[in-house]
Amino acid sequence: MTDAVLEVRGLAAGYGPVDVLQDVNLDVPAGKIVGIIGPNGTGKSTLLKTIIGIADKQAGEIRYDGGPLEAVAPHNLIERGIAYMPQGDRVFPDMTVKDNLRVGGYVVDDDRFQEALADVYDLYPVLEEKQDQKASTLSGGQQTMLSFGMALANQPQLILLDEPSAGLAPDLVDELFAQIKRLRDTGMPFLVVEQSVRALLDNCDYVYVIEGGTTVFDGTPGDLRGEEDLMRMYLALEENE
Ligand SMILES: Nc1ncnc2c1ncn2[C@@H]1O[C@H](COP(=O)(O)OP(=O)(O)OP(=O)(O)O)[C@@H](O)[C@H]1O
Ligand SMILES: [Mg+2]
Repeated sequence: MTDAVLEVRGLAAGYGPVDVLQDVNLDVPAGKIVGIIGPNGTGKSTLLKTIIGIADKQAGEIRYDGGPLEAVAPHNLIERGIAYMPQGDRVFPDMTVKDNLRVGGYVVDDDRFQEALADVYDLYPVLEEKQDQKASTLSGGQQTMLSFGMALANQPQLILLDEPSAGLAPDLVDELFAQIKRLRDTGMPFLVVEQSVRALLDNCDYVYVIEGGTTVFDGTPGDLRGEEDLMRMYLALEENE
């Protein structure tokens, strides 16, 4: 696909001698939400980490914005406009909300940061209300908003999200994806790893399934719903959560 902001071809990756990904192929076009699903431990987070350069690429190609994304330091990738929201603990609990956002937006100068900050506060007024409080005083849902705001604070051109719905009540998941879709509609591309099949199928434009470190399925959410065996397996996994 030529209009892809991010293209991954034949990617093998891992950690030093540990092989995790065998053969991953995917495209993230402008203005699309691309979702990734797969069993625990199959390498979904490793894929995002390889893209931003904190896991080791062993073979294959990653292209971003029309050129190869070679092994450059992660902060250089962030300078090139890739934002990353990691899985799990995502904020600095002892720093204020505003300082967390400044850390998230450390690549941009003060003027652009003020612009980004205004956008984040527009999106989440509660973060403005609590800007001088420690992040540890926020609820779980508000910490996810803050983490998402930290990704936005760099005014990125591509956003990688690792399980954004984890730990959120269903209405907050819907709210988060509503924000993601609003940004998608302005042209922002997203690559989203999701554990929640419902969130993935309801909100993504295109879906990849990774199993055993390999992309084994790709299609629209409607296509995936039609794959009865895969759907049975993932819905069973979700019920076990
Ligand atoms: N820093 C690391 N060093 C060595 N092995 C690692 C490291 N991080 C993860 N792994 C291993 O890589 C494999 C894939 O892990 P990864 O976190 O990418 O899976 P995942 O698909 O994101 O799983 P989950 O759904 O639980 O988040 C696992 O076997 C894991 O133990
Ligand atoms: Mg993971």
